[in-house]
Amino acid sequence: MPVLGTLGESRASEPVTIVILGASGDLTHRKLIPALFASFVQGLLPEPFAIVGFARRDYDDASFRVLLAESIRQFSRLPASDDSVVRFVETIHYHKGDVSDPAAYDRLKEALSDPSLFPPNRLFYLSIMPSLFEGAVRLLREAGLVAAPGGRQWTRVVIEKPFGRDLESARRLNADLLRHLDESQIFRIDHYLGKETVQNILSFRFANAIFEPVFNRTYVDHIQITAAETVGMEMGRGGYYDEYGAIRDMVTNHLLQLLCLVTMEPPGDLSAESIRNEKVKILNAARLDIRAEIADAVVRGQYASGSGGDGRRIKGYLEEERIDPRSTTETFAALRLRIENWRWAGVPILLRTGKRMAKKTTEIAVQFKVPPLQLFQQVECEDDVCDITRIKPNTLIFQIQPNEGIFLRLGTKRPGMRFVVEDVKMDFSYSGTWSKSLPEAYERLLLDTLRGDSTLFTRSDEVEAEWRVVQPILDHQKEIGPGTYPPGSWGVQEADWLFHGLEGRWINK
Ligand code: BG6
Repeated sequence: MPVLGTLGESRASEPVTIVILGASGDLTHRKLIPALFASFVQGLLPEPFAIVGFARRDYDDASFRVLLAESIRQFSRLPASDDSVVRFVETIHYHKGDVSDPAAYDRLKEALSDPSLFPPNRLFYLSIMPSLFEGAVRLLREAGLVAAPGGRQWTRVVIEKPFGRDLESARRLNADLLRHLDESQIFRIDHYLGKETVQNILSFRFANAIFEPVFNRTYVDHIQITAAETVGMEMGRGGYYDEYGAIRDMVTNHLLQLLCLVTMEPPGDLSAESIRNEKVKILNAARLDIRAEIADAVVRGQYASGSGGDGRRIKGYLEEERIDPRSTTETFAALRLRIENWRWAGVPILLRTGKRMAKKTTEIAVQFKVPPLQLFQQVECEDDVCDITRIKPNTLIFQIQPNEGIFLRLGTKRPGMRFVVEDVKMDFSYSGTWSKSLPEAYERLLLDTLRGDSTLFTRSDEVEAEWRVVQPILDHQKEIGPGTYPPGSWGVQEADWLFHGLEGRWINK
């Protein structure tokens, strides 16, 4: 049997210049630079590498380095010694320019012309407004900064969401990008796929023989996926958010990706194409579970004002900065889907997400059917005082964040003279099993782009299939709210109605 030595991660091997377009934004400071720094201190970045920030603001190399050193100290997951920060920021350069100005790209090409300082493999990270994506990619190509696919030197382009704002614009954006780049050069980021716990859904399902046989319509009653956040419109996000809302911002990408991973068929192998093919099949089979009207399957909400735990007043969505006071954008959405394939036909899938909710949690609960015969009394106890309750189904919970882990709820005999069954939890938690902190999603995803591995990135047809699922909601917004909900709650009450005909309810309420 082959023996594994230390499980050191492997270094990305090909020297690279990483150019961040829109480098003065928040993403660079909070996520990209701390993630690259973490890979640097673990010896995972290639040798040599260079980072170039491209933005309009008035920095030079020295002032940009000072700024990013501060970002590292503030946001780094790993200890940031002075020495490692100095060595890292020495690789950073600044290129002042407007991303919609062709001349700025000619100057960039000139600045990158010394291959000993700037390796010719290039990763362009588009951290810019979506309306600028196509123009930036075109100008990169026209300036001769994009190598042909399959050649000795490579060019890859990373694109942040949103990929369009509906099916039609997503199609247009894909067509525009594919005019200048090959699909293999485009890395569309969905940062949920970079989370350890999200990748573990596939390992859990397909590395164990005991769960997969019961993951289907015969045994599963329904599946619910929640991504709740306590934040509102902090850090000036209002402008972007009001244009998009919860369905476009969270459902179309992160929640549907979770849905794919928990319901897809086992791929034939672990190649990027095999995994993405299976995900696309699920998206193509997913539909809103509408019986008579769209409101049977979709609930939208907006948070009202209220008071926080400390008595502090919390602003309602319509009072937030950069929000249109008459906005009908939703900050909460819940929907009921069905998947029309043999494995899942008839199993409702409920998705829910919102801002200013009761707690921050992302979780997937697979709720199984109750046993066909109830032999035992089910009880719910506080100390020795027990109430008889309805039978509790088994539930498997993937706790994506925080308190990452996987939990199974099951009935067990309560010790004592009577034969009664109580609901208990078997759990696996990351923190109880491994001592190391989990890598940040962006660390993994950036390394994958350097290695050219697109498994955890969304393919063009996958993006379009995601939009196809939510398009009926976008077409019928007016018929579905938004209702309001108090901050610190679990969203609008009507979300409970999505459980019509089912035994269950939201596991967090
Ligand atoms: C982003 C959304 O993609 O994901 C944000 O644009 C949201 O609105 C964020 O807050 C949530 O990410 P996480 O990793 O904190 O669950």
